[in-house]
Amino acid sequence: VETIRTVEAMRRRSRAARGEGLLVGLVPTMGYLHEGHLSLVRRARSECGFTVTSIFVNPTQFGPGEDLERYPRDLDRDAALLEEAGIDVIFCPDDAEMYPGGLSRHRTWVEVEGLSGVLCGAARTGHFRGVATVVTKLLNIVEPDAAYFGQKDAQQAILIRRMAGDLDMASRIVVCPTVREADGLAMSSRNAYLSEDERRAAPVIHRALERARREAGNPGVRPGELVDAVREVLAGEPSFAPEYVELVAVPDLDRLEGDRPLRERGLREALLAVAGRLGETRLIDNLMIELER
Ligand code: PAF
Repeated sequence: VETIRTVEAMRRRSRAARGEGLLVGLVPTMGYLHEGHLSLVRRARSECGFTVTSIFVNPTQFGPGEDLERYPRDLDRDAALLEEAGIDVIFCPDDAEMYPGGLSRHRTWVEVEGLSGVLCGAARTGHFRGVATVVTKLLNIVEPDAAYFGQKDAQQAILIRRMAGDLDMASRIVVCPTVREADGLAMSSRNAYLSEDERRAAPVIHRALERARREAGNPGVRPGELVDAVREVLAGEPSFAPEYVELVAVPDLDRLEGDRPLRERGLREALLAVAGRLGETRLIDNLMIELER
């Protein structure tokens, strides 16, 4: 598999592929790949003749005191997985290539107003500004016809789709289903941090969301009842410390509250999102609830 480290070489390679009449697909990642990433790669390969996976642990989306330094990295293992998955190019620039002159000299940021300060953005100030900025840079470098993201990071996916629309970006944003372990835990590179006991406790998030999925079938269900259902299941696992459990409207992420039944609010979709900690490890997961108008 071809590895490219510079912006200029990546852009040239991508344009050459496009010149050969191939559709270009990009799967942006921070590496330490798992089956969730590989499902994005497979989707990209099924739709595009030339596929690129970027591996870049983006420093601007980590806040002070977050896990930037210890974020798991294993480029050799990732390259072997991507080779097997049939990707054409791995784009793995270093920090100096992506932020020449250092982070303190970077002056242009992409902020998706309203969507970046809620849910995960409330606790992780600046996180989504870093995500939106690096994804913009990657889209500008690779110039893909389509870019692939996972539903596990639901807020990220919604925000990137909005950004691409608002800024008339040429790439189609494709969001693919969450891939889960056999016990329901959403796959994440950060699962590698979990101790054995924490790993055993982690599926509580999925169980809680599944309980809400069942309750959401009730036509009169109110937003607070779904949130309470999730909280109740989570409370059964004392080692899990919830950061938030929220039900929000899609795509504006306004919090849904009050007594009016969820299905009487004229929404097409609502997002039930959970974040919390098992020990030092922050985990997120979500349930997208389809609502008829
Ligand atoms: O989802 C991720 O791994 C990252 O947030 C992304 C989209 C690659 C941007 O750094």
